[in-house]
Amino acid sequence: MQRDDLERVLFTQEQIGKRVEEIGKRIEEDYRDKNPLVVGILKGASMFFMDVVRCADIPMELDFMAVSSYGKGATSSGNVRIRKDLDTDIRDRHVLLCEDIIDSGVTMKHLFALLSARGPASLRLCSLLSKPSRRRADIAIDYCGWEIPDAFVVGYGLDYAEKYRNLPYIGILKPEIYS
Ligand code: PRP
Repeated sequence: MQRDDLERVLFTQEQIGKRVEEIGKRIEEDYRDKNPLVVGILKGASMFFMDVVRCADIPMELDFMAVSSYGKGATSSGNVRIRKDLDTDIRDRHVLLCEDIIDSGVTMKHLFALLSARGPASLRLCSLLSKPSRRRADIAIDYCGWEIPDAFVVGYGLDYAEKYRNLPYIGILKPEIYS
């Protein structure tokens, strides 16, 4: 069982559901009559994105981006390669990016620069998790689920070597799995 690879469960399915609903309701209030474009950043944010948009009962459009970031870890080149760009023209649109986790913030810093240059009416960020202790780029998270310590978390979209994304909860991976 995948559960056996976890040190402990950090957020249960129930806790996630409740928090996601709270965030969805805030988005619903803030974006009423704005027809926002809500963007899921593949692959990690996929589950959170699908759940949170279903908790915001307002007209909206959905789109996806896929990015690979270089410069994680020790190096700091921080370049982001766009593997799948938006299908939508965002000029004068209210854009809300949806992430699973902001770690160093490098990916999001580059994404914000790229998308801001396209002239959206607004550009904001929603992230289920944030690891403030790891931050290297200054990022404002407009809707944040939880701030977490610097632990290796998986599940609910988050992976280790592409595994564990399908866990319905978030857990801390046992160090022997990744070391
Ligand atoms: C993760 C996460 C963010 C990024 C955060 O994606 O979904 O996009 O890393 O890290 P940062 O704040 O240090 O830049 P990853 O590149 O692992 O791809 P994935 O979403 O497909 O798992």
